[in-house]
Amino acid sequence: MESIYQFGMVGLGTMGRNLVYNMADNGFSVSGYDRDQKQVDHLNEEAGKKNIKGFSNLQEFINSLALPRTILLLVPAGKIVDAVIDTLKPFMGKDDLIIDCGNSHFTDTNRRIELLDGEGIHFMGMGISGGETGAREGASIMPGGDEITFKRVDKLLAAVSAKVNGDPCMAYMGRGSAGHYVKMVHNGIEYALMQLISETYHLLKNIGGLSNGELHEVFKSYNNSPLQSYLLEITAAIFTQKDDVTGNDLVDMILDRARQKGTGAWTSQDAMALELPIPSIDAAVAQREMTSLKEERVAAQPILQKNGNRIEVENPGLISLLQHSFHFCMITTYAQGMALLKKASATYNYGTDLGKVASIWRGGCIIRSNMLEDITKVFQKNENCNNLMTDEIFYPTLLDTQHQIRSIITTAVQAGIPVPAMMASLAYFDSYRSGWLPANLIQAQRDFFGAHTYERTDKPGIFHTEWNFKIK
Ligand code: 6PG
Repeated sequence: MESIYQFGMVGLGTMGRNLVYNMADNGFSVSGYDRDQKQVDHLNEEAGKKNIKGFSNLQEFINSLALPRTILLLVPAGKIVDAVIDTLKPFMGKDDLIIDCGNSHFTDTNRRIELLDGEGIHFMGMGISGGETGAREGASIMPGGDEITFKRVDKLLAAVSAKVNGDPCMAYMGRGSAGHYVKMVHNGIEYALMQLISETYHLLKNIGGLSNGELHEVFKSYNNSPLQSYLLEITAAIFTQKDDVTGNDLVDMILDRARQKGTGAWTSQDAMALELPIPSIDAAVAQREMTSLKEERVAAQPILQKNGNRIEVENPGLISLLQHSFHFCMITTYAQGMALLKKASATYNYGTDLGKVASIWRGGCIIRSNMLEDITKVFQKNENCNNLMTDEIFYPTLLDTQHQIRSIITTAVQAGIPVPAMMASLAYFDSYRSGWLPANLIQAQRDFFGAHTYERTDKPGIFHTEWNFKIK
C-alpha cells in the first residue's frame, strides 16, 4: 500500500524544499509536487530517512495525501498561483485546504478565497519571511483566513517557525487576506529600513571617508547596541566579503541599481488608498525607482554638478550622530507600518492583533530587531495605540535623538547627498506632533478655485465662501 502523508507541498524550489525538510524534522510527513522532475529528484535525494516523498505526477501526489487534504503552495506570486489552483481544483474535494505561502497581493488572496469557497475548498493566504534559512531553520509565519481552518495547521506552523524565548514566531493574523497584508507591510518596513541603512552608508563613506573595513566595524558596533537588528547585522558582514573574480571588496563591484518585486510599492499604494501616511516607506520605494535610472543619473552628473554643488562638509561625531539618527528613523518607520496595519485591520475587518504581529516579527524575519520587544509591549499594554511615537517607551528617545537627525540632515543637505528616507522620517515626526498644520490654506485654495467647501474652527458644518478676489 502507498504511504499517506499529512501535508502536501506544491513548488519544490529552494523555499518549498527547505520548508518540507523543516516540516519533516518536526515530525510531520510531507509529500511534494513539482512539474520539474529535477526538483523532485533533488528533494528525494536529500530526504534521507525523513518521512518525505516527491512526485512529478499530480494524480500520484494527490493520492498520497491524507483527507481532508492540506496543500501548501510555494510558487512565485501572480498568475502562476492562479494556474496552480486551476490545476489542483479538479482533484480537490470538500474541506480540502490550500495555503498560499508566497508574496501574493492581498486582493488576489481575497479573490481566491471567494472563488474556492464556492467549491467548498478552504484557502488561506500566509506570509513567510526569512528566505532560505528561515524556511529551513525557522521563519516568521503570518497566516490569515478563517480561524477554524487555521486551527487545522496551527501546530504545524508553530513547529516550523522561528522561536524567541521559546515563543513561536507564528500567530493568526486575522480574517480574509490579513496574512498577506501583514507580510506586505513587513516588506514595506523592510524597504524603508534598507534605504535608511544605505543613506547611513552613503554619509559614512562620502562625508566620513570610511573604508569598507571601518564600515564593517561601525555597523557591527551599531548592531551591538539597542539598534540590534538582522539588517544591520548582515550589513556589517557585507563589508567583509571579497569578490571571487577580482579580489576587490564585493560591495564595490555591485551596480547601484536596486531591483524590486513590488511588495514595497504595494504597501505605498494601499496606504494611499487608505489615506494613511507612510512617507518613509514611500521615499524608500521612490529611491529604488531613482536608482533604476542609472544611465540618466550618470548623464546628469556632469551637468548638474558642474558648479561643484557637492561642497566639502565635516561633521565631527558623524558615527555617533548617525547611530542616533538611525534609532530615530527606526522608531518612526515601525510606527508608520503599525499605524497602517491598524487602519487596514479596521477597514478590511481583519481583526488583526498588533501585539501579536510585533511579537512574531521578533524572530525569523528580515525586519527582526531588538526594538520589536518594546513594540510588542506597547500593543500588549494598549491594543488601541494609534501611534508608537506617543507611547512612553518611545517618545523620550525621539525627543532626544531628533537633535542628532536634524544635524545629520543639515550636513547631508549642505553636501548635496540625498537622504530622502531620513528626511521623510523627520517630517513624519514633525507633522504628527503639530497640532496645527497649514492645511487651512489648502482648504481655502480648494474652495476658491473649485467651491470644494471647508470646515470651520469655531462651529461644525460645511461652508463655502464667494471669494471676493476675482482673477482676470
Ligand atoms: C522576506 C523578504 C522576501 C522578499 C525579498 C525581496 O521577508 O523574506 O521580504 O519576501 O521577497 O526581500 O524583495 P524585493 O525583490 O522586492 O526587494
